[in-house]
Amino acid sequence: MSESNLPVQAIRWLAAENFGPDGPVLRLLDQTRLPGETVYLDLVTVAEVWQAIKRLSVRGAPAIGIAAAYGVCLACRDTGKRSFSEVMENCRGAAEYLATSRPTAVNLFWALNRINATLDKLDSAWARVTDPDRDNPAGWVLKQLVQTAIAIHDEDRRMCHEIGRIGAELLRDGDNILTHCNTGGLATSEYGTALSVCFTAQDHGKQLHVYVDETRPLLQGARLTAWELMQRKIPCTLICDNMAAHVMATKDVDAVIVGADRIAANGDTANKIGTYNLAVLANFHRIPFYVAAPSSTFDLSIGSGDRIPIEERQSEEITEGFGRRTAPIGVNVYNPAFDVTPGNLIEGIITEKGLIRPVTRAEIERVLQVT
Ligand code: MRU
Repeated sequence: MSESNLPVQAIRWLAAENFGPDGPVLRLLDQTRLPGETVYLDLVTVAEVWQAIKRLSVRGAPAIGIAAAYGVCLACRDTGKRSFSEVMENCRGAAEYLATSRPTAVNLFWALNRINATLDKLDSAWARVTDPDRDNPAGWVLKQLVQTAIAIHDEDRRMCHEIGRIGAELLRDGDNILTHCNTGGLATSEYGTALSVCFTAQDHGKQLHVYVDETRPLLQGARLTAWELMQRKIPCTLICDNMAAHVMATKDVDAVIVGADRIAANGDTANKIGTYNLAVLANFHRIPFYVAAPSSTFDLSIGSGDRIPIEERQSEEITEGFGRRTAPIGVNVYNPAFDVTPGNLIEGIITEKGLIRPVTRAEIERVLQVT
């Protein structure tokens, strides 16, 4: 792999072995500072992780889940000596608190459920623990929890590569792809979802060109996707979101590929605001519209997209995004961070378990092997 093809490492767990006053640390690449500055945040408290998720220093559905899983581990980091039940209470409280950071991406809750399941197991295992672990409840709980967080991180890496492999088969040499928001290594463990499809196609020798929607209001497309594609030397062209119809009408767009934050049982898909527009436009122009997402992004407990909670963010992101006021003081603002694309506008959902096509409840259950 050449220097420019090295995967982005947006999330790193450091010093796991050195549990003590100086460790461990959750190191995040601060995505709010890209592409201008490469700044890492070393987080040591649960509250710092909550803030990092809320303010989008770490963002993208899988990445939020991974960061939150490590975040609970930080609840064990304490200089004072605590009993086993105090440590467990802190961890459970941390999981509950981190779940309040962002409401839409189901990967956050999926990862925290896995962490909670580990905590439940530790409850019964503690009775059998002997010295020296018995004398260090926080250290022992940390060791077990980190294993689950690392497993979540590693699984996401594998799922993303599989999504890339399956999705790349849908693309031909020379294709023009249009994408929205950021779905690459920054948003996941390493390779991404929709961008993994592009990266893998490139690895397989296919030359692509990608139209990158700038992604108002926080410009994840302009700041992050263009950056990742350029690092990997994949030709790309940045467009404003409101140019997509014109681009589809006047340029050859072969496919639209986007990620997802939550997919309901019928295939309705929540993703970054502006995704639904693209699906409608793609349908009108008869361009296949694909979603790429790991199985951890499905929420089969809800029947359809109208039950997906949509995050609303502060008005300043629209009126004075990036520091300069662009709207009159006092104007009413509506700032939903996500929208829901109906499943019937989606040509296929690329998952690590296979391609879901057609997008129907039955096909989703079959590919995901839901019994
Ligand atoms: O608000 P963000 O930047 O977290 O939104 C991210 C997206 O909408 C992504 O498309 C989605 O999480 C998929 S990431 C692989």
